Amino acid sequence: MDMVINEKRCIKGIINVPGDKSITHRAIIFGSIAEGDTLVKGFLKSDDCYSTMKCMKKLGVDIKVVDKNVIVKGKGLYLNESHDILDAGNSGTTMRLIMGILAGQKFKTVLTGDESLKRRPMNRVIKPLTEMGAKISAIDNNYAPLTIQGNKLKSIYYKTKVASAQVKSCLMLASLYADGETIIEEPYKSRNHSELMLNYFGGNFAVDNNRIICRPVSKLYGREICIPGDISSAAYFIVAASILPQSEVMIKDVNINYTRTGIIDVIKKMGGNILIENERVLNSEPIADIIIKSSNLKGIEICGEIIPRLIDEIPIIAVAAAFADGKTVIKNAEELKVKESNRINTMVSELKKMGADITETNDGMVIYGKEYLNGAVVNSHNDHRVAMSLSIAALRAKGITTIKNAECTNISYPDFYKTLNVL
Ligand code: S3P
Repeated sequence: MDMVINEKRCIKGIINVPGDKSITHRAIIFGSIAEGDTLVKGFLKSDDCYSTMKCMKKLGVDIKVVDKNVIVKGKGLYLNESHDILDAGNSGTTMRLIMGILAGQKFKTVLTGDESLKRRPMNRVIKPLTEMGAKISAIDNNYAPLTIQGNKLKSIYYKTKVASAQVKSCLMLASLYADGETIIEEPYKSRNHSELMLNYFGGNFAVDNNRIICRPVSKLYGREICIPGDISSAAYFIVAASILPQSEVMIKDVNINYTRTGIIDVIKKMGGNILIENERVLNSEPIADIIIKSSNLKGIEICGEIIPRLIDEIPIIAVAAAFADGKTVIKNAEELKVKESNRINTMVSELKKMGADITETNDGMVIYGKEYLNGAVVNSHNDHRVAMSLSIAALRAKGITTIKNAECTNISYPDFYKTLNVL
């Protein structure tokens, strides 16, 4: 599907963004291995989350969608063998988290994904899971399709090379099947939804700076969970309202977990006008309403510890930088190369087509802002975050922009264009 977008003067309105993708995946996966029912309210109805549901169903879990909710009838820690291949679609979270559970099962499972997922590195979870005792074979020891034979697992002390919540969560799940205390240490703190939710389900996970101390429990308990709005989806409107003159947008009920709010810190540091109101806690997660008014952004440097706190927002931050005064440098973001697309490369090449002054570096990009971009024909590279970021860039581009392959927005935000039209 091609999406045609016209230049827009300003956006105004009050919106909700859909449920958080990371939290929805976890509620379904953790609910599946808990005992009793888990009611997931306001889940994200997107392709990635349906991939998770389909995989868990193939492992014998009864999962029903009723209106805006999902009811997961937990099977406990041990699931049924699947006689069919599990297909994680486009979703790295689905594949990596489920591998942690499969490592502790008494059977073998075959996992695959779409063309993008088959290119994403799995050795980051294969290596520690093998150390724990699982038997895994994969293409070049790294890529799906892969098979995983579960086993009685040994507890390990594991230092991850990258700050990745997917790796950490995979190992936290495997630790439930281990014979003792597993310790996971990351270079920087990645998103901590698994720590919060697994403890809410009766797990025993202690946090000590960048270390997670995982003690196995005999069971998890199904719970009711309300999914807050996804700050990664809110990010597109945070930037749109910031860069379009005379704009004002309120986004209600957004998750503002510190491990996810790098985008707010960055836009504020660039001179953005953002207010956080009505803060409260929902199932161990902080939420609030976010109010954004237009402002004159200026270029900054973004690197180090903040990168994992905004890893999925770098494509839209690149768009903000393309309209900011002066130079923006993004460093230490090499992880972007192994996302749904190589996001350094795809964002640089597509924004260049619109006339942006942007250069690819080894671990990020350098951007000199301009007053306007030009409408052009650009490609999403089947990456949902690239499609949505380019759509926001199109709002301040002279003339018409066509986004090729825009249907990939269904991966995380099926109503993205509807909401954009409302504003
Ligand atoms: C996610 C973690 C991040 C993020 C992804 C979702 C999660 O990946 O990019 O979209 O739900 O755990 P990494 O943890 O591999 O950086």
